Amino acid sequence: MRYEVDFLVVGSGIAGLSFALKVAPYGKVCILTKGDAAEGSTRYAQGGIAAVMYDSDSFDKHIHDTLVAGDGICDREVVEMTIREAPDRIRELVQYGVNFDRDRGGDKFDLHREGGHSEFRILHHKDNTGEEIERGLLEAARQHPNIEIKERQFAIDIITQHHLGQRVTKHTPGIECYGVYALDCDTNRIDTYLAKVTLLATGGMGNVYSTTTTPVISTGDGVAMVHRARGVLSDLEFMQFHPTSLYNPAEKPAFLITEAMRGAGAVLKDRDGKEFMQKYDSRLSLAPRDIVARAIDNEMKLSGKDYLYLDARGIGRKQLIEGFPTIYAKCLSIGIDITRDMIPIRPAAHYQCGGIKVDRNGESSIKHLYAAGECSCTGLHGGNRLASNSLLEAVVYAHNAAMDAIDTVKGVGFKAEVPDWNAEGMVLNEEMVLITQTKRELQEIMWNYVGIVRSDLRLQRAFDRLNLIFRETEDLYNRSVLTEPLSELRNLIACSYLIIKMARARRKNVGLHYSLDLIEKKV
Ligand code: FAD
Ligand code: SIN
Repeated sequence: MRYEVDFLVVGSGIAGLSFALKVAPYGKVCILTKGDAAEGSTRYAQGGIAAVMYDSDSFDKHIHDTLVAGDGICDREVVEMTIREAPDRIRELVQYGVNFDRDRGGDKFDLHREGGHSEFRILHHKDNTGEEIERGLLEAARQHPNIEIKERQFAIDIITQHHLGQRVTKHTPGIECYGVYALDCDTNRIDTYLAKVTLLATGGMGNVYSTTTTPVISTGDGVAMVHRARGVLSDLEFMQFHPTSLYNPAEKPAFLITEAMRGAGAVLKDRDGKEFMQKYDSRLSLAPRDIVARAIDNEMKLSGKDYLYLDARGIGRKQLIEGFPTIYAKCLSIGIDITRDMIPIRPAAHYQCGGIKVDRNGESSIKHLYAAGECSCTGLHGGNRLASNSLLEAVVYAHNAAMDAIDTVKGVGFKAEVPDWNAEGMVLNEEMVLITQTKRELQEIMWNYVGIVRSDLRLQRAFDRLNLIFRETEDLYNRSVLTEPLSELRNLIACSYLIIKMARARRKNVGLHYSLDLIEKKV
């Protein structure tokens, strides 16, 4: 099938939906999403969204905290723009129907605090903020007559001059996007979506690693598509590991214990119940995430233990049950009463700071292709994202991209000469184990060699092993009918390759990139 739409959006998380709602008055919008529309990292966000809403806080402080967490390599102008725009974007979320908790009087938002923040500035909805944001935006999008949401449609590749038979390299000037090829997961048919403007909002790539808080859909599809289309990507060495995922090895994805709990007073402890963060940072359990995750990793390696503890008992029973109902219920379901027991935790891959390089308008290096949300790299996060700045970045850049796209769409037509996908001669691969086993291998390689602490040798090992996996999978791809699991595996391999390549190129320890070979010797 062939479709023509003004605005094509890939992804129905906070970034895709926010963009869709803004451009909808100006043309037909089609949202493709590979699972159920509500599924994605957005709905699992717990802590909340950071913004300066009152005079007790200031833009300067939020800017400062973001720059400090980013370890000196954020784009300062982007940081300033994003943080100053935040209150307007929050008010829009409220207008779309998103409810944030309010204080006792109901006049002001109730604000939480998280690691790296010098003030209480996290707007939240109990400990399930993402679910509330996703609900509000999805309901608004479903009611809009110009927005069509198509579930179980898996975008495979963006269409460029390459599909018209031209040679495209990363040096080709003026690469253009004409839309995407997408697999209808119910019929296994590959459709052609021609679009005047395309937005990638495909989320993160946490499933590159064996332990991650991200849902199974986070397989770096957008980044891999842009890589194949020869677009510019950046900062992928900065994978953020959240310090406190619930230790429950059988469970995938790992359940998150929000940093807001440390903001409310919970402290990290070793297996003997002793605090240890004083050895690593004066901000203790509320130091930025890269520092806390490395400290936990180090303590686990020194003691040979699989997990440490978060002690939330000091917060008090009432506040724990009322303020963190999701976490309380989850822990209770596996026999842990967080009002009485310490919570077993370990770090897990959580957020990709890098991605598709975009300008202030969210436009990528490929013309008419925008990116927003976790799949993009704006320069806001630098070497390490400040907690709760991700949802904020997504709404700010969805807005900027929408404003630019509304202008762009007026001067662009559909590329009628784009051919349909050619699947001739392909056979259905009936050995799923080839895919599932390779995925597991890949995730273990990345966890063991390209994790929180790296070294030249570990990166080399990962690269060599990845090469073999890459060759085997490309061979499978060249003779098989394309399926979602195969496509995701190829994307995970591409993302892993890019993480390793960028990690090897970064010759200084900064932010989340930490190599034993780059520790500066004191003279
Ligand atoms: P997502 O919400 O992940 O949505 C991606 C969408 O793309 C999905 O609809 C998916 O189906 C679709 N998609 C992907 N690939 C394809 C494809 N090939 N074809 C079609 N569709 C595709 N950040 C904060 O700021 N505050 C928090 O409190 C917070 N808590 C978090 C808690 C958890 C457990 C996790 C995992 C993350 C948290 N984050 C938080 C990070 C934040 O939630 C995400 O970065 C953000 O929600 C990403 O939004 P998004 O719209 O970019 O992507
Ligand atoms: C959390 O609630 O700890 C996650 C916040 C984030 O990822 O920004």
